[in-house]
Amino acid sequence: MQLTKTLLVRIAAGLGLATAATLFTSCAGSMSRKPAVEIFNDMRQQLKYDTQGESQFAGFTDGRADRRPVPGTIARGHLHPQDDPFYTGQVNGMYVGENPLKITPELMELGQQRFNTYCSPCHGRAGTGKGIVAARSSWIPSDLVDARVKGFSDGDFFDVITHGRRTMPSYRFQITEHDRWAIIAYVRALQRTTSGTVADVPSQLRGELR
Ligand code: HEC
Repeated sequence: MQLTKTLLVRIAAGLGLATAATLFTSCAGSMSRKPAVEIFNDMRQQLKYDTQGESQFAGFTDGRADRRPVPGTIARGHLHPQDDPFYTGQVNGMYVGENPLKITPELMELGQQRFNTYCSPCHGRAGTGKGIVAARSSWIPSDLVDARVKGFSDGDFFDVITHGRRTMPSYRFQITEHDRWAIIAYVRALQRTTSGTVADVPSQLRGELR
């Protein structure tokens, strides 16, 4: 008899505790202007820095919570030979004259796709510098098919896409090295269209010219 009584008391106490716990924890989800009652640490309060926040740590002399990577840090998979023209567009500090990739129809198609995506908004699909951005602003993108830009070496072109030039921003984070070379091959074809003559048209197709 004594045993059952203790057991009952224990069950009642347990139920009481569970109800109290439910009541308290539900406070966190209810609407109130007061700070929620926090019985257990529900991770809202954390010893951490907010993005772009300030740091009180004396070792961070610039006071910033976000730290810059150690100078010279290279992300995994991005360690490239520094003397390979494929990655630099240069040999011995000079721009390479020619595209290091083999020019194939697939490469040209890729270059066209990438050019239309990344370059045409400013330079226009024909490369003449009359893209939609130029039409809507006073910003003047270069005419990529004029004689001056025709005279650029492929390596110089690579440098423009990689680092930007004057007011043109860099596209190295958007476009891989391989695709930059594909774009260059395609721009060469665009430039070629401005100096085409009837002699370039295969003889069996000349009849269709108007
Ligand atoms: C957001 C607009 C914009 C985009 C996108 C853009 N460019 Fe340009 N680009 C410019 C402007 C503006 C200039 C002229 C910069 C100046 O003279 O200040 C320029 C200049 C150039 C030049 C010539 C530099 C010179 O000396 O005149 C080349 C080559 C070039 N862009 C290639 C590209 C290629 C290739 C792409 C695509 C990967 C591209 N641009 C994407 C705006 C753009």
